Amino acid sequence: MALLEPITLSGVAPEPVTLRPGRPDDAPGILDLRRAVATECPYMVAEPGEIAASPRGLCRKLAAWEADAATLCLVACAQDRIVGLSLLRGARRRRVAHNATLTLMVSLSHRGLGIGGALLDASLAWASAHPTIAIVTLTAASDNRSAIGLYRTRGFEIEGTRRARLRLSRTRFADVHLMARLVKTISVACQ
Ligand SMILES: CC(C)(COP(=O)(O)OP(=O)(O)OC[C@H]1O[C@@H](n2cnc3c(N)ncnc32)[C@H](O)[C@@H]1OP(=O)(O)O)[C@@H](O)C(=O)NCCC(=O)NCCS
Repeated sequence: MALLEPITLSGVAPEPVTLRPGRPDDAPGILDLRRAVATECPYMVAEPGEIAASPRGLCRKLAAWEADAATLCLVACAQDRIVGLSLLRGARRRRVAHNATLTLMVSLSHRGLGIGGALLDASLAWASAHPTIAIVTLTAASDNRSAIGLYRTRGFEIEGTRRARLRLSRTRFADVHLMARLVKTISVACQ
């Protein structure tokens, strides 16, 4: 589901940065961003060689996400380059449809400028206004300090930690935190 209006962030980078819904023709730029982040950041699940070479599949997904009321894909554009991406996907089944999962990344060249925070804020605002979504969840490697720092500033809490779920090298593993934040009040009736 598209945000109605693009958001322009001025003063964060030398060039204006615009946040807007991702479109099918963004697929090549998004793949470039994913490959670049996967190359320098050890905490992404996909390695660079595991990211699709052809944009065709992602192009189809972006068209589907645009039409899906429970998905928000946002890109951050600096001039014509995609420098940030957030993807918030609501769960399909009715019993879990109040859960949405977030993925977030910003190009190394544009980090620390507030772009990740702005993508996250826009996604959380959208989720708050969504008729069904009540909880935003995500996973983060326990030593990914910038990501965890960002999520904590936006009210996410660590709900649990899965031991050694991410392999960083042949001999090094990282724990993975499960983090979540409520975006609306839910009354819980537990038996
Ligand atoms: C995590 C990531 C998206 C943050 O994006 P960013 O644009 O650099 O973040 P921002 O500049 O908006 O920083 C926002 C907040 O995060 C916090 N933060 C940023 N870097 C931090 C660091 N190294 N340590 C602690 N907190 C940090 C700051 O408190 C900042 O708060 P503020 O908005 O009050 O200034 C970016 O580092 C990234 O893409 N990393 C690689 C991919 C990745 O790890 N994705 C997340 C997977 S869970």
